Amino acid sequence: MARERDRMPTSFTRRAAKVTSATTTQGARHAATLAANLLRDEDAGAEVLERRHREAAQRMVAVLGSMKGGAMKVGQLASFLHVEFIPPEYRELYQHELAALRDAAPPMPWRLVERVLRDELGEPPERAFAELDPEAAAAASIGQVHRGRLHDGREVAVKLQYPEIADALETDVRTVAVLSPIARAIAPGVDVRAVVAELRERILEELDYELEAQHQRAFARAYRGHPFIHVPDVVTDVCRRRVLVSEWVDGAPFADVLASPRDERDRFGEILVRFFYGSIDVVGRFNADAHPGNYLRRPDGGVSFLDFGAVKTVDRERRQLMLAGARAVAARDAPAVVAALERLGWLRHAETLDPEMILRHVLLTSGWSFEDRELTITPERVALAAAALSNPRSEVFRVWRRENLPAEELMFSRMDAGVVSVLAQLGATANWHRIAREWIFGDPPSTELGRAEWEFLTGRRLWRDPRG
Ligand SMILES: Nc1ncnc2c1ncn2[C@@H]1O[C@H](COP(=O)(O)OP(=O)(O)O)[C@@H](O)[C@H]1O
Ligand SMILES: [Mg+2]
Repeated sequence: MARERDRMPTSFTRRAAKVTSATTTQGARHAATLAANLLRDEDAGAEVLERRHREAAQRMVAVLGSMKGGAMKVGQLASFLHVEFIPPEYRELYQHELAALRDAAPPMPWRLVERVLRDELGEPPERAFAELDPEAAAAASIGQVHRGRLHDGREVAVKLQYPEIADALETDVRTVAVLSPIARAIAPGVDVRAVVAELRERILEELDYELEAQHQRAFARAYRGHPFIHVPDVVTDVCRRRVLVSEWVDGAPFADVLASPRDERDRFGEILVRFFYGSIDVVGRFNADAHPGNYLRRPDGGVSFLDFGAVKTVDRERRQLMLAGARAVAARDAPAVVAALERLGWLRHAETLDPEMILRHVLLTSGWSFEDRELTITPERVALAAAALSNPRSEVFRVWRRENLPAEELMFSRMDAGVVSVLAQLGATANWHRIAREWIFGDPPSTELGRAEWEFLTGRRLWRDPRG
């Protein structure tokens, strides 16, 4: 298997097309047609849907498995698809299958790890590291993570890229052939060029660990001293395009959090929400990849966020537009919601649409943060919204097919869908609206975590004053 990987050609465009069609037809189409069943007969429909998704996921894994290395990244690209077309709980299924595939992939042999380090650092690894565990501690999407120690004693995580895979991927995302089918599936008939450009830029960014290091540094600086959010420091002088070195984090993986008592899961869920949405105000950026492999729970109950490969910067103007939209939804002011969505680029036929209908659609997916009550996020709640979104006979599906998924919103949608899917797994309960109001209206915090965070933010120069 490792040998085949070594011989992997630098272009896998044709095979990527194979994956794309596997994911679009098997995944999205099944999701779409079978969602109709789910709405008609919930139990039987759910069962069929689940079985079809499992089959589709396995088929996808079979295709990806035959492609080796580079395909895994393409599989990740396909995860963009899931945002709008695959119900969130099945997204987990795909991720599970992909994780199995990734875990089955042979790790980079030590001689290759050494070579990457030497090539990138321009010196033997012993110069930079006092110790480096030859066994990988974890798999990364296009490489792996080793635990090590610097000469000054600091324990570090060394994330390295598998160079052939990175090269192949880079070559291929530069060609339109790979990305446009994906973009077309995400935003059918609209804005394909812009979506292709956005996808390309984000994927190339994910390949550049120096850029990731920059984002991580910005987050680490902004959250230094935070009561429950931690971002490991980057060791800049040993970071390169294909090597990212950061402070080692000891923490419990998501599986442990899932097995924890309810109050701990609620707390964890609230921390995720505060980090993923709140960082827009704290750092002016957000992390679009809410995958559970990207954070660890610390012994004190705080959370360390590890992965900054998919970060999007939000400029002030866009932030204002997002806030205007959120305020309109909170007030159930339908015409204002339409106006805000139009300015954000979501609507192309605003004047022909019934504002009350648009408000209803927005509440279908984002309602969880606009209901002023204690609310448990359940997989059923998320599935129902997803089923409506992917049911071709539903009003919401018909309307939004004609409208737009603005490229600029792709990453936010990905984050939004990822977070709610993780909250559903946790079965987390909170008055999410009260938390959101801290950002939307600058309301005083309503939770213990909120008060601790408020204290931290007070007197700090924020990207946008949350009370402003
Ligand atoms: N600083 C760290 N401390 C401990 N483990 C880490 C650290 N950074 C990454 N890891 C481990 O490596 C895995 C992959 O890292 P990640 O940055 O998520 O890679 P990718 O960007 O490819 O998804 C994580 O799920 C985690 O288990
Ligand atoms: Mg990750």
